[in-house]
Amino acid sequence: MKENKQKILERIKELREKIKYHDYRYYVLNQPEISDYEYDKLYRELKELEEKYPEFVTPDSPTQRVSGEVVKEFKPVRHTFPMLSLDNTYSQQEILDWVERISKYVSLKDIEFIVEPKLDGLSCSVHYIDGKLHTAATRGDGEVGEDVTLNVKTIKSLPLSLEPKEKIIIPKFFEVRGEVIMLKKDFEELNKELRQKGQQTFANPRNAASGSLRQKDPKITAQRPLRFYVHSSGKVEGDVVIETDEEFLNLCKKFSLPVIQHYKVCKRIEEVIDYCLEWQQKRDTLEYDIDGMVIKVNQLKYREKIGSTLKSPRWAIAYKFPAKQATTILKNVVMQVGRTGIITPVAELEPVECGGVIISRATLHNFDEVKRLGVKIGDTVLVERAGEVIPKIVKVIESKRTGKEKEIEIPKLCPICGSHIIKEEKEVAYRCPNSSCPAQIINSIVHFAKREAMDIEGLGESVAVALVEKGLVKKLSDIYFLTKHQLLTLPLFKEKKAQNLLNAIEKSKQRPLSKLLYGLGIRHVGEKAAEVLAEKFESLDKLMQASEFELQKIPEIGPVMAKSIKDYFANKYSQEIIKELKKAGVNMIQPKVEKKGPQVFSGMTVVFTGELESMTRSKAEEIVKQLGGNTSGSVSKSTSLVVVGKNPGSKYEKAKQLGIKIINEEEFLKMINVKS
Ligand code: IVH
Repeated sequence: MKENKQKILERIKELREKIKYHDYRYYVLNQPEISDYEYDKLYRELKELEEKYPEFVTPDSPTQRVSGEVVKEFKPVRHTFPMLSLDNTYSQQEILDWVERISKYVSLKDIEFIVEPKLDGLSCSVHYIDGKLHTAATRGDGEVGEDVTLNVKTIKSLPLSLEPKEKIIIPKFFEVRGEVIMLKKDFEELNKELRQKGQQTFANPRNAASGSLRQKDPKITAQRPLRFYVHSSGKVEGDVVIETDEEFLNLCKKFSLPVIQHYKVCKRIEEVIDYCLEWQQKRDTLEYDIDGMVIKVNQLKYREKIGSTLKSPRWAIAYKFPAKQATTILKNVVMQVGRTGIITPVAELEPVECGGVIISRATLHNFDEVKRLGVKIGDTVLVERAGEVIPKIVKVIESKRTGKEKEIEIPKLCPICGSHIIKEEKEVAYRCPNSSCPAQIINSIVHFAKREAMDIEGLGESVAVALVEKGLVKKLSDIYFLTKHQLLTLPLFKEKKAQNLLNAIEKSKQRPLSKLLYGLGIRHVGEKAAEVLAEKFESLDKLMQASEFELQKIPEIGPVMAKSIKDYFANKYSQEIIKELKKAGVNMIQPKVEKKGPQVFSGMTVVFTGELESMTRSKAEEIVKQLGGNTSGSVSKSTSLVVVGKNPGSKYEKAKQLGIKIINEEEFLKMINVKS
């Protein structure tokens, strides 16, 4: 080979290695090291070189994930041995009954259990022959599945060839079985895209995963963000000895295969039950949907002894969480008016149990959603509760229609103040344009007073409602002119409570500009953007003078936000509020955080979760900034460090999942050089 060509081949190989490495970091470890831009650059270079030198293309090159073929139908694939399903249990007692049953085959003291989340996706078997991804098949009827090899090859978390990180022999035939899923955030993103294109959306991540995998054109699958997690072994042939499920999963990890997360080997059944209940509590902290836990016997020799029925193995069982979906009747729809006047239709439901709680309301988001669902008053609907958010309606059960259902009308007038409702072009939402609509004022007070904004303790929803209903607050800034005498006229207000609220209002005047900006509730301006703006402009006056162009030049501020900021300050009503806030003595300056001391947090983004004992969170955040760092209210891939106090929330789980460095308060104090 000519020297030049040799060099090109070497570069091609180097690029492939790099891309594989970064795929693994991103899709399997969840710890990317480079930006999407840098990744695309590597990919493009490889693609161009391979196009120029097709003789160097190999089937396991990252560019070969997407084939040009379109299949008419999926060919049948007979499974090496049946892909069984699992029997379900719904309570601790049923788990204990299962253990009792298997103890007839093997003494309980010898059994180890492996417990892991039950992923809500679709199962798939993948064969590697001589280390190369050869065939992938859906479960089908358990005996025969559908050949989805071309589609599965597009899943970037799955290596096209097994590449052991250490010296181990690759088995001649290596079959892994696992679940194809879609992350919740990817599902939301995909639906958004489909909606924009006017295409049919998916009801949940599982349907989206299934619909994406079973595409006849792999190019479409390639655009869908699917993930694969190995959860069980298939046929393995070659020089390997595997004695337990845990060993099998460890071997898969050595081959860079994406292995199910959060599995745990337990010796005692109490431990198993505790682990199941722990995840029942924490299920929403995961990036994907799980519908229960799977409990399996870890030792393979005992699995054989215990055996299987035709339908399911006896050595494994699923513990199903209480369903988060339920069907009920939509009794009525009420219109809620938000802080910015947006009208949200909210469904009133026949109360029903859903995932362990009784629900009687569900959001319909907006009138586009009402149209999409085709929902009417009186319909039987499927509702779903996900995370802590209010439940939503997934679909109408059409077969239950009686013909007596009533259309949901878009209101012409605001249900609170009677103003004519408007719909701005290009926007989905209908709005009440009246800034002094009581509903808007109540919601804007609650937002203004919350901890992340002006932090006025004691000014929650019920107090805000009372203040507006009594006519004591007609616009946001009026809260700074309340007297004790007025507060004492509110329900349940006595001397002490009134004084506490006055003190909290007074204290809020010293909040930095970033908090005030966020509290004003300018559309599209969230906590982070408010901070960026405050730091950039330093005073409200300067920000108010900035042009839309100037605003857009800031990397974090897009055109929509820039316009919204300009519109807000151009509005007479907002100007009046700002004037009054000034008059009340509310701080409108962003205090400059002076960088001092060793810059130990230089270039880092730090997130706090839980309660700190030695100082307030805002003090800790200030120190981080002094020492060169940035802070954020939420954990993401760009977080560098999470400081965990007492009773941490979901941010802690997320950080663990993303593999972000976590330290406790004591370690934090050491970093900032305070001995605890
Ligand atoms: S083990 C014999 N582990 O649940 C089957 N299955 O209801 C052994 N599933 O079709 C399967 N997460 O695809 C196992 N961590 C997990 C799982 C899991 C989801 C699916 C599996 C199967 C279905 C059975």
